[in-house]
Amino acid sequence: MKTELLRVDERSDEILQRAAELIKSGALVGFPTETVYGLGANAFDAMACLEIFKAKGRPADNPLIVHISKPEDAERISYTNELYYKLAKRFMPGALTVIMPKKDIIPSEVTAGLDSVAVRCPVNKIANRLIDFSGVPIAAPSANRSGKPSPTSAKHVFDDMNGIIPMILDGGDCDVGVESTVIKISEDSIILLRPGAITFEMLKEVCDNVSISSAVTEELKEGEKPLSPGMKYKHYAPNAQLYLVDDEYVDFVSFVNEMSAKENCAVMCYDEELANIKTDKLLPVGKKNDIKKQTKRLFMLLRKADDMKVTAIYAHLPQKSGESLAMYNRMIRACAHRVIGGTNGKI
Ligand code: TXA
Ligand code: MG
Repeated sequence: MKTELLRVDERSDEILQRAAELIKSGALVGFPTETVYGLGANAFDAMACLEIFKAKGRPADNPLIVHISKPEDAERISYTNELYYKLAKRFMPGALTVIMPKKDIIPSEVTAGLDSVAVRCPVNKIANRLIDFSGVPIAAPSANRSGKPSPTSAKHVFDDMNGIIPMILDGGDCDVGVESTVIKISEDSIILLRPGAITFEMLKEVCDNVSISSAVTEELKEGEKPLSPGMKYKHYAPNAQLYLVDDEYVDFVSFVNEMSAKENCAVMCYDEELANIKTDKLLPVGKKNDIKKQTKRLFMLLRKADDMKVTAIYAHLPQKSGESLAMYNRMIRACAHRVIGGTNGKI
């Protein structure tokens, strides 16, 4: 199959209409959102959604997120409650996914047999218009092959999906760079299943009762069943082994200089450290205090590390709180909990 890669903005009505026609006809389209690129299909079309699993090589028991263009459209596909509308008022459209009981109109293929559905209303104008033009909700996981870092540019999608899907919409680099915050809600409580740009602290401002699923920061125990199936898979793993250095206990610059002299490794460092690190295999993440920029660049750098053909990557261990929790969660899983130094570590 030939894959069209088309540069678009929210005024590219003609191309967006063509993309919407593809969605309506049961085909898959790669499209930008503010978080990461999605691989979309008509959420009411079970066959089309099964194609998503094939294209990604995704296990059938990992459910998809359903994207809508207006928060009220959640009524079509799920049983909402007051808390949903409180959250929607504050955070939608935006990087928040809310899991609620599903209505029958959503095929069980989309939710991997679960009786709940994940609902998200993206703020990205291209995504929003594509959903509107399609006239149906769009089921979309991240547009990477399973096990690769989520794509934050159209090129990443092309690298993974060329020849597999008919069209990719190129809306430039994603603003956030990690996937949406995923929460499961009841009438009066929230469980955080995947941290993202909408933080635990922000959710606390809307609801007193917010808890964080242990799978966000800890390794699953043998045989443990996570609340969100996606958490049991080894995600975002670069080809090289990633190690996180706890810089409260280890001097990062001396440590990586020592390792760079010994082995073929890449170093993910802060801009402030660039001048002092003695290797040309550098992956600068941004300034030490610029968490937003570091988050935005993370997946792109993990892909770049793969291109460098190194055997190891050393990076700073992110903080386990606030805006950093999203990076911590992605990186701790990408490194399979290999932390150097400190009490957190195994090495
Ligand atoms: O930012 C995002 O959320 C991106 C863009 C494209 O919107 N999408 C995304 O989808 O990251 P995906 O499929 O890569 O991640 C969806 C996560 C998975 O961990 C999945 O297990 C979980 O959400 N999930 C989906 N439906 C669920 C449900 N009914 N119950 C529990 N977890 C669910
Ligand atoms: Mg994904």
